[in-house]
Amino acid sequence: MYPILEAKKLADKIYLMVVKAPRISANCKPGEFVIVKMDEKGERIPLTICDYDREKETITIVFQTVGASTERMSALQAGDSFRDVVGPLGNPSDFVKEDIEELKKKKYLFVAGGVGTAPVYPQVKWLKEHGIDVDVIMGSKTKDLLILEEEMKAVAGNLYVTTDDGSYGHKGMVTEVIKDLVNNQGKKYDVCVAIGPMIMMKFVCLLTKELEIPTVVSLNPIMVDGTGMCGACRVTVDGKVKFACVDGPEFDGHAVNFDEAMKRQQMYKTEEGRALLKLRE
Ligand code: NAD
Ligand code: FES
Repeated sequence: MYPILEAKKLADKIYLMVVKAPRISANCKPGEFVIVKMDEKGERIPLTICDYDREKETITIVFQTVGASTERMSALQAGDSFRDVVGPLGNPSDFVKEDIEELKKKKYLFVAGGVGTAPVYPQVKWLKEHGIDVDVIMGSKTKDLLILEEEMKAVAGNLYVTTDDGSYGHKGMVTEVIKDLVNNQGKKYDVCVAIGPMIMMKFVCLLTKELEIPTVVSLNPIMVDGTGMCGACRVTVDGKVKFACVDGPEFDGHAVNFDEAMKRQQMYKTEEGRALLKLRE
């Protein structure tokens, strides 16, 4: 059993939980994820690790309620437990394996969209801990949906906040801030990391391709087993079939077929669509 030590609501439908998971907290790295199960028969829910504390033996997860399982999960409180937390799964972010001195020569731009701020945070924090300051753009629909702003402020070199409706920070989508930084403020970036809704990652990639900035995205398609066996998380990258759970979750954004990935995500939302996808696989 994995006890929940802290549970709080961050914004409408967005929740944060600190979970005691000693083996995972001892080994996890930025970019990796876990699969949680509430009880024996519960659905397996993949979630990125938002933070970890090796001394306290905890991991922090952030999730949005999108269906019956996550709705039920949001009712859990400190003192409750998860039946299972499996991980760390997937591959760590590429920069974790790079030489720190080489890494220090590169200028990184992180783009965090909505709940995608949760997986961006541990990456920016890791880089800060290794002496690397990065620029971060955080975008949300409105001020009320902005999460982890103070935490991000503490680890980002420069933080640019934008809301679609202008209720806080800049007004407009993250892509407009990228354009402003590069075209008007003369910023130069060697790598962009974009994590958020699929549609955001698609449009960030179209723009960064034009601006010639190599871009990494973290994909979160529907996952079932998380071990590369079921095919649910299949995506096409550079014309080749990849499984986000074992080959990712991070990929070269300029090579991802986002239209196919979005279509699959939509189809998985209905029973009929799931059956159809199974037949094709
Ligand atoms: P959202 O819809 O509020 O979007 C966040 C920001 O993305 C917007 O404020 C905007 O700046 C930008 N954006 C959206 N559409 C855009 C477009 N067409 N062009 C340019 N920029 C655009 O975000 P949300 O409601 O928090 O998103 C939830 C989605 O994010 C869910 O589908 C969830 O699965 C996904 N998600 C992805 C990851 C990941 O690892 N990739 C992690 C967590 C959540
Ligand atoms: Fe089953 Fe990736 S979740 S193959």
